[in-house]
Amino acid sequence: MKKQALSLVLAGLMAASLAGCGSSSSNTSTTSTSTTASTAATTTAATTAASTTTAAATTAASTAAEAESTTEAEVTTASTTAEAASEEATTEAKTTEATTEAKTTEAKTTEAVSEEAESEEVGSEEVESEEGSEAETFDLSASKYLSDGVLTVGLNATFPPFEYVGDGKDDFTAITANESNATGFDVAMMNEIGKRLGVDVEIEDMDFDGIIPALGTKIDVAATGMTITDERKEAVNFSDPYYDATQSVLVAADSKIANEDDLKAADAIGVQAGTTGETVAREINDSAVVSVKSFNQAVADLVNGKNDAVILDEVPAEAFEKNYEGKLKVLDGSDFNFDVEEYGIAMPKDDEVLLDAINSALADMKADGTYDELLEQYISNYQAE
Ligand code: ARG
Repeated sequence: MKKQALSLVLAGLMAASLAGCGSSSSNTSTTSTSTTASTAATTTAATTAASTTTAAATTAASTAAEAESTTEAEVTTASTTAEAASEEATTEAKTTEATTEAKTTEAKTTEAVSEEAESEEVGSEEVESEEGSEAETFDLSASKYLSDGVLTVGLNATFPPFEYVGDGKDDFTAITANESNATGFDVAMMNEIGKRLGVDVEIEDMDFDGIIPALGTKIDVAATGMTITDERKEAVNFSDPYYDATQSVLVAADSKIANEDDLKAADAIGVQAGTTGETVAREINDSAVVSVKSFNQAVADLVNGKNDAVILDEVPAEAFEKNYEGKLKVLDGSDFNFDVEEYGIAMPKDDEVLLDAINSALADMKADGTYDELLEQYISNYQAE
C-alpha cells in the first residue's frame, strides 16, 4: 500500500512540474486540505495526471494527501528535532555563557580579594609611616561582644608588673570577680587598645582559674599574662603574641635549692591554680605542689617559710623579689630547662570581629611606638605602688 502511494505521488510530482510549466491555474485546485504549497502542487499534479478518471484522481489525491501527511509528520519530527537541536545548541551556548560568566565572576572575586589584600598592605604601610597617629576607627557593629561599646577585661591582679594592686604583700584572699582599680602593663595595654577601638574599658579582677570560664559571659577578653597553649586554644581565641616569657623558680634568699633535683626533693612548691607554672611543678614533683588562688598568697607563704619555692613567670618573680627587699631570689629558668612561652589576649571563639579589632589595635600600637613606651613605663621601671 505504501509503495503504491509513493509511486502515485512521484507520478503526481512529475505531472505537477509539467503542469507548473504551462498552467497558471495549476495551484487553484481545492481538493487538498493541506495548506502547504507542496501538497497543493502534488494534489494538482495528481489531478492532472488522473484527469481521465475522476475516481482515479480522487484516489491519487487522497493517497498523495496521505503520503504528504506522513512526510509532514516526518518534517515536523525533523523540524522538532532541528529545533530541539538548535535549542540544545542555544542551551549549550547559554551554558557556555553561564560558565564564562561564572569564570568572570570568579575572576572578579579574585580581583576583589587581591584588591583587598593590596589595600590591607597599603593600610599597614600607612600605619607604619604615620608614627604616633591614632588608629583608624573600627566598625564594631558586627562584633558580638564590642557592639555595646564596652570592653570588659578579666584579669588576676596578683601578677606584678602585668596586673597588680599595691605591693603584693597583702590581698591573699581568693577573688570573686569584682571591679578593680588594678594597674600594670596589661591594664595599660588594654586601655590603649580600648582607646583605639573607641570603646570603654572595664576591669574585672578574678581568680586566674575562673578567667577562661568567664569569657563570653562575665568578661569579653582576658589580658592577664596568659600563656598561649594548645589546650587553651581549644577553648578560646588568642590575639597575636604580645610578650615572650618563661617560668622561673622563686626561693628564699638563703635557700639551698639550685636545680631540678633540689625541687624533686622539696616538700612544698607553691603555684597559682590553673597556671603553666602549676603544670611545670606537677611534672617535676606533683606531690609537693601547693596550689592557691593568689600569687600574693603563694609568695607570702614562701617568705614565712611554708613554701620551699614558688614556680611562676620570671618577670613577676623579679617584681616580688624587688617588693620583698632582699628576702627572696629568682633562680634562672635555664637551669630548669623551662620552655619559652608567649602571652596572648584571650577571648571567646565566636567573635572574629573582636579578634581582628584587637589584633589591629595591637599591631598599630606596636608600629607607632606606644607599645614600647608602655613596656618601659610598666616593666623596665616597675615600682610597687
Ligand atoms: N603565664 C602563666 C599562665 O598563663 C601565668 C599567668 C598568671 N597570670 C596572672 N595574672 N595571675 O598560666
